[in-house]
Order: sequence, then C-alpha cells, then structure tokens
Amino acid sequence: MRTVWFMTGNSGKVREAKHALEPLGFDVRQLVIDGVEVSEPQCDDLEDVARSKLDQAQQYLPNSSDALMVEDAGLFVDALQGFPGVYSAYVLNTIGCKGMLRLMVGEASRGAQFEAVAAFLLDGEVHVSRGICRGQLSFEASGNEGFGFDPIFIPDAIEVDGDFSSTSGLTFADVDLSVKEQFSHRRKALNGLIELLLTTEAASSS
Ligand code: IMP
Repeated sequence: MRTVWFMTGNSGKVREAKHALEPLGFDVRQLVIDGVEVSEPQCDDLEDVARSKLDQAQQYLPNSSDALMVEDAGLFVDALQGFPGVYSAYVLNTIGCKGMLRLMVGEASRGAQFEAVAAFLLDGEVHVSRGICRGQLSFEASGNEGFGFDPIFIPDAIEVDGDFSSTSGLTFADVDLSVKEQFSHRRKALNGLIELLLTTEAASSS
C-alpha cells in the first residue's frame, strides 16, 4: 500500500480524498507541518498555487518513497469574471456565503463553476490533474453538509451512461458526500490523479 501525504488544513478535503483513494489501496494521511507556514503565491491559476505548495512542502515528506499531494480549489463566478477564483478562501473568511449572494443581487446570470487542481509528487516527478464542476449560485444559503461555498452552489445535471442525474435543485450542502462526489470538481481531479498513480505504479512494477 502506497502512502499519500495530503498537505492541507481542511479536514473536509481529507475526508473526500480518503473516500476516493482508499478503496484503491492508497493510505491517505494528512500532512500538517508544525510551525511551518506554507505561503500561497498570488497567481491567477490554481495550478501555479498547487505547484508552489508542493515545492515548499517536499522537504517535509516523512519517507522519500511516499507520495505528496496538494489540492487547490476555488469558486469561479461567470457574472463576476471568475471572482473569487484563487481568492476564494479569503472571500469565504471575510464576506462568506451571504456576502457572495449579495454580490449577485441584480445579476441575470448565476452560472458558476468550482475548479480543483490536484498535484502530487511521486519519485521526484510532479503530476497534475484538474477537475471542473459547472453549476448555478442559489438565491439563498441552504444545507449543513460539506464546507466552504457548498451551501450556495447547485451543480448542473450530468449525464451518466445515457441517464441524467441532478440534485433536483439542492445545493452541495443539502446532499451527502456520496452525492456531491458524483458531480464534484475535487472528485474529477482526484480521479485524474488516481489514473496517473495507477499508470505510474504499473510502469514501475513492469
Ligand atoms: P483551497 O485554497 O483549495 O483550500 O480552497 C479555497 C476555497 O475555495 C475554500 O476556502 C472554499 O471557500 C472554496 N472551496 C474549494 N472547494 C470547495 C468545495 O468543494 N465546496 C465549497 N467550497 C469550496
């Protein structure tokens, strides 16, 4: 079993990564580096942020054969030209979900997307995978599940094997994790990561 150290302070993200990666035989552990502040560079792209975090954290990997993973995500709102995007954490901590909804008053389009970039370092190589989830901002916050902007985000319906699946207008915070995962940006980024991990494992064992 390969150990994957997930560097994040967000326990909601760790739960989602464990759910996705453990059934495939990856032992996901949270990497918290005591006394070290990992800086987030101000970049327009999530991938640049993720790569910078990997660079900063690799020296703290407990074992060089383990994988190191970081993941960066954000909410990109069409009517606000992609804001808050890479500033999502700051915006959540300052104006919160209610403040975001206030910014949307009078906007005709409520389209938005969550984006996630998962990056991992394995045997000295960096692999990056991106996931996007399209949806709409709700008119009011609803639900207690999930985290962050989940209470104001309603994912668009998706097609699975010819059938359409939706949350019937419910937000990500109204549904449980297994439902969110069918739509989620993070799950898509993690799935890409899983494929890369499996390909890398297969190549190194052949
Ligand atoms: P981070 O920098 O990747 O931790 O994410 C930045 C911010 O994006 C978080 O603080 C949340 O506000 C928001 N965010 C990222 N992913 C999600 C999600 O799956 N649901 C709700 N909010 C999210």
